[in-house]
Amino acid sequence: MWSSVFIHSLEHPAGGYKKIFESCDELAEPIPAHVSGKIPAWLTGSLLRVGPGLFEIGDEPFYHIFDGQALIHKFDLKDGHVTYYRRFIRTDAYVRAMTEKRIVITEFGTAAYPDPCKNIFSRFFTYFQGIEVTDNCLVNIYPIGEDFYACTETNYITKVDPDTLETIKKVDLCNYLSVNGVTAHPHTEPDGTVYNIGNCFGKNMSLAYNIPLINAFCESNYFVFVETPVKINLLKFLTSWSIRGTNYMDCFESNDKMGTWFHLATKNPGEYIDHKFRTSAFNLFHHINCYEDQGFIVVDLCTWKGHDFVYNYLYLANVRQNWDEVKKAAMRAPQPEVRRYVLPLDIHREEQGKNLVSLPYTTATAVMCSDGSVWLEPEVLFSGPRQAFEFPQINYKKYCGKNYTFAYGLGLNHFVPDRICKLNVKSKETWIWQEPDAYPSEPLFVQSPDAKDEDDGVLLSIVVKPGVTQRPAFLLILNATDLTEIARAEVDVMIPVTLHGMYKP
Ligand SMILES: [Fe+2]
Repeated sequence: MWSSVFIHSLEHPAGGYKKIFESCDELAEPIPAHVSGKIPAWLTGSLLRVGPGLFEIGDEPFYHIFDGQALIHKFDLKDGHVTYYRRFIRTDAYVRAMTEKRIVITEFGTAAYPDPCKNIFSRFFTYFQGIEVTDNCLVNIYPIGEDFYACTETNYITKVDPDTLETIKKVDLCNYLSVNGVTAHPHTEPDGTVYNIGNCFGKNMSLAYNIPLINAFCESNYFVFVETPVKINLLKFLTSWSIRGTNYMDCFESNDKMGTWFHLATKNPGEYIDHKFRTSAFNLFHHINCYEDQGFIVVDLCTWKGHDFVYNYLYLANVRQNWDEVKKAAMRAPQPEVRRYVLPLDIHREEQGKNLVSLPYTTATAVMCSDGSVWLEPEVLFSGPRQAFEFPQINYKKYCGKNYTFAYGLGLNHFVPDRICKLNVKSKETWIWQEPDAYPSEPLFVQSPDAKDEDDGVLLSIVVKPGVTQRPAFLLILNATDLTEIARAEVDVMIPVTLHGMYKP
């Protein structure tokens, strides 16, 4: 048993990870899983996750990790028994691809070409109207009130039934909010308020960020927004949509001069605080947690150092290479690091050159510069060469926005997910779960009903083990305290990569 043994670098010469990027069929009905270990009696509910499940339409391939057609997965746990079910989400992108047997809607890194059968007049209309924005909701699923929505990062979200996995309806956020797109990572308050950040195409080709509020009511505090050098070039985005062969990836640009900016706003009333917080360039996809303490804002992030866009390394052709090539490509990519930044709220211009951070437990600094900006240097919480602590999770219910101790994550080894990690952000102690030739997904934390400590609970992850002859995938249940295995529920089908998800009690 390899559980909890810290292994610095696992090698994958057999290339089993390629299997998580292969198309699969949906299931006609839930299938039973083979359980070993003892599932806690209180763990009754559903693990819902989404990801790409169809990586080509006929002989037309999708090119990027974020292009495959959205597949929703569900593990149901009840009385120690587990079933697994999955369905393709009936998005417009999927339904039209199935009907026309070609890629109809342009995806993140794959352009759709006009139907060759259409005549010159309808092609003119395609040009005129621009290319349709995708509704391929393969990134996440989250609740809004009583409903569940699968999403990507465009203006479309898709309502799904969490029991039957049926697709209910497509919702255009533009009808409710002044946004052109929102992230796949909303923040949900205990009262059900959902916050998200979106971009809004303003006048004169300017790009503004809105923080749309989907529900109502919340307590007063702060919003932190990290502006990285990677951006959508709006002019390119608006003009090149009408050009044959363009996709979203073509519209990204990275500014090698600006570094990274932190923005602060008060929550209630919603007002921008005009302090200029600056630091060196990094890519950022996931925030771990953020809280206020003694006049400071502590921001913990999964960063990738440098301005080179990390998504450039996430084409399917990259992740389907042999292990030596995968490693070579990851050497050139930005390097991952878990960092803590600390933003002082009380800033006086005359304190030039001085470190304004006086929190006793961090080495992060914030220094007032002569131009009035504040230069931030982080405290490194975790760093391993080409070993990312990514897809972070915390005890979100109890510790989101609060001074916390534990983060859980998926370990990416040269971009290949091959371990589950736990990090004590105070002591920097780490725990690892891994097995040879096993590829887990983002671990979701579920608190136990009698929990006293922050980490009293379990972690749920879908693990794929393509090398075995029987039951090549399983739901893994770990003790969140020490990452020892509690149980696993194995199924007779392969499960492709999943990105994000949720646990529905
Ligand atoms: Fe994400």
